[in-house]
Amino acid sequence: MTQSSNSSLVHLGGFRDVGSFRSHLAKLQINIPCDDDLSSGDSSPLAQSIHRSGIHLGNRFAIQPMEGWDGTTDGRPTELTFRRWKRFGLSGAKLIWGGEAVAVRHDGRANPNQLAINERSTEDLNALRQALVNEHRNATGSTTDLLVGLQLTHSGRYSQPNVQHRPEPKILYHHPILDRRVGISSDYPLLTDGNIGEIVEDFCQAAVRAQAAGFDFIDIKHCHGYLGHEFLSAHTRDGAYGGSFENRTRFLREVVQGVRAVAPRLLIGVRVSAFDTVPFRGKMIGTGAAEGLNDLLPYRWGFGVNIENPTEYDLREPLLFMHLLARLGVKLVNISAGSPYYNPHIQRPAFYPPSDGYFPPEDPLLGVARQMEVTRILKQLFPELIIVGSAYSYLQDFLPHVAQAAVREDWTDCVGLGRMILSYPNLPLDVIKGRKLQRKKICRTFSDCTSAPRAGLPSGCYPLDLEYRQSENAVILKRSKAQKKIDDEH
Ligand SMILES: Cc1cc2nc3c(=O)[nH]c(=O)nc-3n(C[C@H](O)[C@H](O)[C@H](O)COP(=O)(O)O)c2cc1C
Ligand code: SF4
Repeated sequence: MTQSSNSSLVHLGGFRDVGSFRSHLAKLQINIPCDDDLSSGDSSPLAQSIHRSGIHLGNRFAIQPMEGWDGTTDGRPTELTFRRWKRFGLSGAKLIWGGEAVAVRHDGRANPNQLAINERSTEDLNALRQALVNEHRNATGSTTDLLVGLQLTHSGRYSQPNVQHRPEPKILYHHPILDRRVGISSDYPLLTDGNIGEIVEDFCQAAVRAQAAGFDFIDIKHCHGYLGHEFLSAHTRDGAYGGSFENRTRFLREVVQGVRAVAPRLLIGVRVSAFDTVPFRGKMIGTGAAEGLNDLLPYRWGFGVNIENPTEYDLREPLLFMHLLARLGVKLVNISAGSPYYNPHIQRPAFYPPSDGYFPPEDPLLGVARQMEVTRILKQLFPELIIVGSAYSYLQDFLPHVAQAAVREDWTDCVGLGRMILSYPNLPLDVIKGRKLQRKKICRTFSDCTSAPRAGLPSGCYPLDLEYRQSENAVILKRSKAQKKIDDEH
């Protein structure tokens, strides 16, 4: 489906009951499971615990990692960071997948306010985790069935550690489309194998600190175009970390083995973009379109894409990757897709585009369905892993109905919630306790939480979270979006 704005899309907020939503799905021929009635209390599929491979989770909700761009310039949490983590805790979700991306070294930070894990910040991260756990205990009465992880990252191509809007990319290979988006010339140096060895060390050091800070697991981030993900598509790189599947996953194997040696008590998880598509372009005023591929076929710069037609996914390599994870003893896997930088409609389906995005080139429900379908396939093939599914927030009022059906029909073990938790942190508990949803708090995918950081502001739910809505930054964000629109139109 294409359109020049989102005017032809149906806004889900307009559906007053689940029956109309289901009819809408049927009309669009979109395969998303959806229950008519919600169960509550012990009979709710979403309240069922998981006991598997020595892991105990008290229910099926997971909180996805979400950065706030609100750390100090030396990578420590601020009051806003504490507020967000406390809200993650009081949500009642029993799996906290990493809190947010935390850089393992300064030059791998995605922005000058990203959290970093180092000697100075370890105690702060411990305090952050503790604050979350305390809120969780107050909200649910128990923490024995809660698992809290820390997402470890190196931002690779999207590193911007020192100054907002001054990219300092660290790349593994030259990308024919993405290089020019961050101003990389053809002679820009690649990370050497030696540099990669140091980064492996940084991940291991970070794991030691995460263990000291009391986290149950670390996520070795392999998604969204950052360094871990870029390894998986390094087909054109020479040497030990490029070319064959074995070489492209060497980084993962080295980090897992290194972490096991130095932080043996930590569990290991991996969040992966299990499929991708080509970069899309389009400004606020236009509908997104795939970049022209003219002489770029077969496409050698993606992971989980059909190389002859890279706007389609191909799960052959992602399946090998899952086998590898299982073999390495990784028990927690979080399935995501694409990247917020070059194909946001794949990664976080939204009705309204972020300020650097484009109008959706397809019904965002298709984006939700695609991530759910891939998660279902992987879950069926790897029943021993604990699998978290992503991209549910676009479902809005019907998120609980779809989440319940997805768990009941075994499409996923856990339902991961991102944006919805920024606007409506108590949604998991409201659902499990059978309370009526608070419609005023439902995320309508306005994308301000993505647009704010693009304007150099902390991320948060500016439209629906009063603390953000009434802040000075809300005014600045509004002004910056208006200015952006004028710039785009000229
Ligand atoms: C403001 C914001 C920050 C995010 N930061 C991260 C991050 O640090 N690490 C990560 O893996 N994903 C990050 N994501 C992606 C989310 O975890 C999630 O995959 C995405 O929002 C889709 O899920 P949803 O539909 O529930 O929002 C972020 C998303 C948003 C909106
Ligand atoms: S700003 Fe709020 S309503 Fe908009 S997408 Fe983010 S969480 Fe949802």
